[in-house]
Amino acid sequence: MSQHIHDVLIIGSGAAGLSAALHLSQLGTVAVLSKAELTEGSTFYAQGGIAAVLDSKDSIESHVQDTEIAGAGLCHKDAVRYTVENSKKSIEWLISQGVTFSTKPNKEGELKYHLTREGGHSHRRIIHSDDATGKAVSTTLVGAVKQQQNIILFESHNAIDLITRQMNGKKRCVGAYALNLSTGEVEVFKARFVILATGGASKVYLYTSNPDVASGDGIAMAWRAGCEVSNLEFNQFHPTCLYHPEAQSFLISEALRGEGAVLKRPDGTRFMPEYDKRADLAPRDIVARAIDHEMKKLGAECMYLDISHKSPEFIKSHFPNILEKCLSLGIDITQSPMPVVPAAHYTCGGVAVNLKSQTAVAGLYAIGEVACTGLHGANRMASNSLLECLVFAKAAAEDIESQFDKITVCDEVAEWDDSRVTDSDEQIVITHNWHELRQVMWNYVGIVRSDKRLRRAERRIELLKQEIAEYYQNFRVTNDLLELRNLVLVAELMVKCAKLRKESRGLHHTLDYPELAKEAHDTVLTPD
Ligand code: FAD
Ligand code: SIN
Repeated sequence: MSQHIHDVLIIGSGAAGLSAALHLSQLGTVAVLSKAELTEGSTFYAQGGIAAVLDSKDSIESHVQDTEIAGAGLCHKDAVRYTVENSKKSIEWLISQGVTFSTKPNKEGELKYHLTREGGHSHRRIIHSDDATGKAVSTTLVGAVKQQQNIILFESHNAIDLITRQMNGKKRCVGAYALNLSTGEVEVFKARFVILATGGASKVYLYTSNPDVASGDGIAMAWRAGCEVSNLEFNQFHPTCLYHPEAQSFLISEALRGEGAVLKRPDGTRFMPEYDKRADLAPRDIVARAIDHEMKKLGAECMYLDISHKSPEFIKSHFPNILEKCLSLGIDITQSPMPVVPAAHYTCGGVAVNLKSQTAVAGLYAIGEVACTGLHGANRMASNSLLECLVFAKAAAEDIESQFDKITVCDEVAEWDDSRVTDSDEQIVITHNWHELRQVMWNYVGIVRSDKRLRRAERRIELLKQEIAEYYQNFRVTNDLLELRNLVLVAELMVKCAKLRKESRGLHHTLDYPELAKEAHDTVLTPD
């Protein structure tokens, strides 16, 4: 069995994982695991940009207030303030790493960073690289980590489970087992500190804007290791994914609405002004629910997003990638509206962490979409996610640095035992279970919920969980099996959280409790 020993093990190579690796690279050796290629994760596909207080007319107070309003009264005030106060520094750090953001000349002809707008923001504060910000961030950070000798990159390595030990009366994370997808061998990674940066779990839904790697692995691993998870009922649905058989839920950035695009019914009439005074720029939960409501009311397959009233030059210069993608599918957005539907987009809840990114297990940190810092509350405001990745990656790195000399690598780690398993005889069972699970979540734990729907989901998930557990005990692990095992656990935790919330707040809207409760509380689950 291959063994790897490093000072820090980071599981995940998105904005969160790679930022942490860069901050830690002067301290010791850092291993970064990635399930697929380094760039494959939600970060690469991010479009709109990164929210930060960069304009002299904007203020920290305003960004804080907008975030809290979008979060429907559930944001942790300390996490919001900490994130927003560190926003400018985080962008400056990205620029120092080489990320190129879009610029525009001001009235005096000087080039300034162009700031766009998105739902919930009362100011222009989204810095971006055209409409492909994630690609710029991801490729730049990948380039930067490749320059660092201390950072060792392990692509095609799927972390299976965290390894914990009782040390000084406390449970401590000392490493992880990972399946090398190229060799089929399970390898052990030992480290003084472990950081989960595995992204979200939106793949638990049938329709999602997320890439395949977003299967909630970090949440599931952390839960099995003994961490608390929080607010998993709040999975965000992005209002506007392209509705086209070949589009695979391609995202149509909220920045289009920020620059004047409007939502329309199939007959061409607008509907958002009937739902919220902020109309098309209301926070995402409100817009997604309005689209869902209109689709159900009219029996329509989709709604439409129209920016064709803007000049073709404007559209070309602001949204070159979206324009090109739509053109490749036969839709000219300079002339006609785009068919759009909501799709699962972002996991607001996750592994509960404090402002240092520490989980309940010593030595284990969670950063980025896998974590629940309290920043997003019941609904994430657009473009606050990449910001959170940057701010909390730095926080984790600083905390590790402060403890670095006190911790050594644990040597007593058991080898992976696969002596009692064989190769699977029926891989198709995994495919069937995958589909069933994602369909159940879409049908019963979607934009609008009810007690009855949640009970239905719970019963089906329990059955699937048993079948998958049997499969896991008897057969050699594969990428699909590992992801499915994690997804079914995350689905179960999401339903548990949803059942505990007896109110409608932010992204959790239930027919049985349509009102907002007087007091806002997190949903916190603790493993037995
Ligand atoms: P990711 O970037 O998702 O990376 C996760 C990493 O973990 C990957 O490397 C993956 O391979 C690895 N991994 C997962 N499981 C394992 C495992 N078991 N073993 C080993 N490795 C594992 N947010 C914004 O702020 N602004 C935007 O404009 C924006 N646009 C978006 C557009 C799209 C289409 C999507 C999908 C999301 C968007 N978001 C946006 C959200 C934002 O991109 C993500 O929340 C953020 O990038 C998450 O970063 P991360 O580093 O936490 O995870
Ligand atoms: C978008 O560009 O609409 C996505 C922004 C986000 O998810 O924060």
